[in-house]
Amino acid sequence: MMDIGGWLRGLGLDRYEQAFRENEINLRVLPALTADDLKELGVAAIGHRRLLLKAIADLAAGVGRAAAEDVPAASPANATAEAERRQLTVMFCDLVGSTPLSARLDPEDLRGIIGAYHRCVTEIVEGFGGFVARYMGDGVLVYFGYPQAHEDDAERATRCGLALVERVPQLDQAEELHARVGIATGLVVVGGEVVEHDIAGDTPNLAARLQTFSEPDSVVIAASTRRLTGELFEYRDVGKIKLKGIPGRVPEWQVLRPSGVASRFEALRGSALTRLVGRDEEIDLLLRRWARAKAGDGQVALVSGEPGIGKSRLTAALSQRIESKPHTRLRYFCSPHHQDSALYPFIGQLERAAGFTREDTATMKLDKLEALLGDGAEPGDISLIAEMLSFSGGERFPPLDLSPQRKKERTLAALLRQLQALARRQPVLMIFEDLHWIDPTSREALDLTVEKITELPVLLVATHRPEFQPPWVGGSQVTVIALNRLGRNEGATLVHQLASNVGALPPDIVDEIVERTDGVPLFVEELTKAVVETGADRSSVSISAVPPSSLAVPATLHASLLGRLDRLGPAAKNVAQVGAAIGRVLGAACAPKPAEQAESTGTRVKPMPQRALYDKVATLTKFVQYRKNL
Ligand SMILES: Nc1ncnc2c1ncn2[C@@H]1O[C@H](COP(=O)(O)OP(=O)(O)O)[C@@H](O)[C@H]1O
Ligand SMILES: [Mg+2]
Repeated sequence: MMDIGGWLRGLGLDRYEQAFRENEINLRVLPALTADDLKELGVAAIGHRRLLLKAIADLAAGVGRAAAEDVPAASPANATAEAERRQLTVMFCDLVGSTPLSARLDPEDLRGIIGAYHRCVTEIVEGFGGFVARYMGDGVLVYFGYPQAHEDDAERATRCGLALVERVPQLDQAEELHARVGIATGLVVVGGEVVEHDIAGDTPNLAARLQTFSEPDSVVIAASTRRLTGELFEYRDVGKIKLKGIPGRVPEWQVLRPSGVASRFEALRGSALTRLVGRDEEIDLLLRRWARAKAGDGQVALVSGEPGIGKSRLTAALSQRIESKPHTRLRYFCSPHHQDSALYPFIGQLERAAGFTREDTATMKLDKLEALLGDGAEPGDISLIAEMLSFSGGERFPPLDLSPQRKKERTLAALLRQLQALARRQPVLMIFEDLHWIDPTSREALDLTVEKITELPVLLVATHRPEFQPPWVGGSQVTVIALNRLGRNEGATLVHQLASNVGALPPDIVDEIVERTDGVPLFVEELTKAVVETGADRSSVSISAVPPSSLAVPATLHASLLGRLDRLGPAAKNVAQVGAAIGRVLGAACAPKPAEQAESTGTRVKPMPQRALYDKVATLTKFVQYRKNL
């Protein structure tokens, strides 16, 4: 690992090494350094300051990227060089009661505590693919969606917030620490050559304000974030609050915990579905496979397609079509946040089927599990499954003394037996969503199922994105269904349906939406909603009249498109290439407006008076003071 001296030498600026060392500036603190700090360190030449800030930005971008799961081949230096507008979820995490803490403790101890807290926050944030933009005293400013965007940045931020308020109090320090977290999502301008990853926009301000309003150990999110996380979490409505410095009252929610809603599709898309457009052939094919399966010739259907194309929707449609006939439906959901969690989709299915609640004791769970598995279980199955569900089988079902390998095999066999027992009673429709996020053990379980299915009245419908290559393709019982984009007419039908409550949209608008969204139903939905929302008065509905920030890339799309773009690398951010690569949707949002461009060629993006925005000045100054005195 390079040290600060090596880093400075690499830049030809080793003359400052001593000053950096004397001020305890190591590679970890570097990203938090400001131009003012550099001045204080004695870096008098503007050229040197620029060089250092640029190198710091590159370094920090590299760190943020390495933490993100989809590391692109892009050079972070280029990725941060241009100012760009993007949607960001900003998190502000603050230590509760740091002012009394600083009065009570001596500077050395305080520094130790804050250091431990910073390390904890950084580690957790990076684990969730976030980016620590800067430390502000005991506050930490974090971005989700920059430099690397993910389609689920709002969800990541929220999960991260929950992890932070849980973990900070567990830090082993002389004083028990507590954190509080505020999260908001919005369009911001990020990047520019230097400015320490400053971002321009109201979002960080809002996040910081929300945080001051939240209780210790709690996470509060803005409406903008809540819209993106849907029903993935349980919330407490804290009402609308007046925040200093922000006009009007803003609604906000305290996030309590991840919700029990198993299906990401339902959690994010809600239950009010429009009519299915097209997909007749796919449905017919699935119904034929279902007929075969019911006759005892078990089948596997693999539904593949890009995000938003309608995989989940197709499984829902099939489910609906066979609703009235006797069968058992089992649903399994993989999650991007549980890819290392063994048997996660199976655990979720069993917990829901058994009807566990949060309040259930181990005994109650055991009773429910026994009722569920009943006579299909062999001795030992219930012990194994109780253990898999992380509760004790007690005296009735004591844990089996087996090697881990053997235990896994027996657990998988028990799961398969459960399926067989169900299938003996009536045909089973097994829906397995999002295989691209499956954990290795579940995959083994699925291998066994696919093998066994030929002799059972079971139809397994599994969905996945094209990057996942299912190993079962080619088997006689396996059917592959690749979902294509909707045709123009189908796209237009979808637009009409979605806009039906505002009457007919003008034909040129419909065309424009169909054109921009390239037949991806999710994009059609989002863009149509955005048009309808912005043009409450129908006569004024016009794409060009709507400000690009609210229309061109609706919030829900923004993240997933940017996620893809980031993976393509910085060159793809060139607007022309963007246009060619993924249609015109992004153009307006990615292209800096002329005013910004002018600004960005001079000083790049105008730095926000960010510190002034946060109510942190007192603590911050104190902290800086301590640093200087050390
Ligand atoms: N054929 C269709 N007709 C109407 N709406 C659709 C169709 N396909 C998808 N949708 C809608 O588009 C959105 C994205 O579809 P979804 O099934 O979640 O995609 P995927 O699972 O492939 O990511 C959902 O709101 C869904 O209801
Ligand atoms: Mg889906």
